[in-house]
Amino acid sequence: MPTNRTFTMIKPKAVENGHIGAILDKIGASGFKIVALKLTQLSKIDAEKFYAVHNERPFFNELVAFMTSGPIVAAVLEKENAVEDYRALIGATNPEEAAEGTLRNLFAESMTKNAVHGSDSDENAAIESAFHFSEREMFA
Ligand code: CMP
Repeated sequence: MPTNRTFTMIKPKAVENGHIGAILDKIGASGFKIVALKLTQLSKIDAEKFYAVHNERPFFNELVAFMTSGPIVAAVLEKENAVEDYRALIGATNPEEAAEGTLRNLFAESMTKNAVHGSDSDENAAIESAFHFSEREMFA
């Protein structure tokens, strides 16, 4: 996995609200190439594993319940400096603090329902991409 890739999920509420197209459009307009993409739904076990790093946090159960509540879009994005640039595009975790024009500023409803996930490091981007996609589902 080259370090110019990051992983994202469009979360259930943003999918339910019909924002998939607008979010993918902004991702493309910001210079990211989509190299893997799927509409899927996390099981409780999937979500607990994906967010295991947060399992001691008070919001963990709410996060797992929300992330399993409906379909999500999972994607791998490619761009130079992908992890950092994508985190700039999505904005702060708390949508009230997300800069104007960022995906969370435009599409999030709350800290839990914050529209999109973005990997926080190259290492996690590789782990999270492999969690959702096999090698033959990721394209150069
Ligand atoms: P995400 O980027 O998917 O990574 C972990 C998620 O946990 C985060 O987005 C938020 O949705 C959620 N989260 C992080 N901090 C809090 C918090 N203090 N309260 C509620 N949810 C949180």
